[in-house]
Amino acid sequence: MNILLLGSGGREHALAWKIAQSPKVENLYIAPGNAGTRNEGTNVALSANDFPGIKTFVLEKKVDMVVVGPEDPLVKGIYDFFREDPQISHITVIGPSKEGAQLEGSKDFAKAFMQRHSIPTARYKSISAENIEEGYAFLESLKAPYVLKADGLAAGKGVLIIPDLETAKKELGDMLDGMFGDASKTVVIEEFLKGIECSVFVLTDGTSYKVLPIAKDYKRIGEGDTGLNTGGMGAVSPVPFADDVFMAKVEERIIKPTIAGLQKENITYKGFIFLGLINVEGEPMVIEYNCRMGDPETEAVMLRIKSDLVELLEGVATNSLDSKVLITDERTAVTVMLVSGGYPEAYEKGKEISGIEEVTDSIVFHAGTKAVEGKTVTNGGRVIAVSSYGKDKADALARSFMNAKVIHFDNKYFRSDIGFDL
Ligand code: AMP
Ligand code: GLY
Repeated sequence: MNILLLGSGGREHALAWKIAQSPKVENLYIAPGNAGTRNEGTNVALSANDFPGIKTFVLEKKVDMVVVGPEDPLVKGIYDFFREDPQISHITVIGPSKEGAQLEGSKDFAKAFMQRHSIPTARYKSISAENIEEGYAFLESLKAPYVLKADGLAAGKGVLIIPDLETAKKELGDMLDGMFGDASKTVVIEEFLKGIECSVFVLTDGTSYKVLPIAKDYKRIGEGDTGLNTGGMGAVSPVPFADDVFMAKVEERIIKPTIAGLQKENITYKGFIFLGLINVEGEPMVIEYNCRMGDPETEAVMLRIKSDLVELLEGVATNSLDSKVLITDERTAVTVMLVSGGYPEAYEKGKEISGIEEVTDSIVFHAGTKAVEGKTVTNGGRVIAVSSYGKDKADALARSFMNAKVIHFDNKYFRSDIGFDL
């Protein structure tokens, strides 16, 4: 079969690596891909948001399945774009409908959905310019710190956690005034939850589901989880606290009601659901939904799936996921992200990367890289994910840290404490 994978980050390289291992795949195309995805298939110079361009391409290359990496095309409705066009409606799209993608595209939608289906999450109130007074009153009823979330997509920057009430009120006003453009015309105010987070990935055909290996990511730039938020500096799978008892609660209280809720509301969802969970004294609660896999979690999670991923995706396409088996690797998998100095603030691109061919015992996934005149150069804040297996966390991390030092580019930085809190 011919598959087109959309996206260009480390998540997409890891998905491409796993998809390319399937004997079912004849051709794998990645649009637009990066310097690393060239090793798994053919890069196509097309944006993941160029729907008409994608249509022309899938018809020309007889693509059977489109796997969507990032949230943007999903929130913009790529699933519906395919379903509604008779020329391409026979092609499988792995991802939710536009309405299903609202679980990530609108925090207000996601919170109301959870409330309708009694899914445990922080108490909240949605506020717009018209009811800002209610927002102030709700803030006054909460204890510090205060959580303010832009309703819409804000490139991972739309969540503010504010230590004092006066600043929270001021920031609420600024958000409604357009701090994040249209994304913060509505703001979700939430009660602050205290606990440790983990990422749970569910693949669903809309009826049945498989729970993929659990991971924890490290979002802050600095060691000890300090400093600014990033797209993710590393990940570890499995997560020790997500044991059988915890995961049984996650399935009963969160996964099953989520899928039943989507069904009840006639929302088509055939793809990955990412549950950002927090463990509050042993009780799982939802911090957020995403409508895609996580990055950099995917760069660890793909290592722990032994089954043929394409076989599972076919199960999604044909509503037969329950007949497929998911076999996971018992080993630990980790990933350590090498980033450009300065990231997540200003940083330079175009630095030559060397040493990748000297890596042994790790799997190198490109995140922000580009091929220029036979060289591989940096092309983003997050540059390369160094993923490794190990008999335990320490063993896997030792491999990734060793290889993180083997790869060179100017101003390289990585966190050497990934997994410190587990
Ligand atoms: P989100 O984009 O909703 O995942 O929020 C980004 C990050 O903010 C999360 O990964 C949490 O670390 C933190 N966060 C979000 N909501 C809450 C909450 N209600 N309580 C505590 N921390 C939160
Ligand atoms: N690692 C978090 C995310 O992908 O949103």
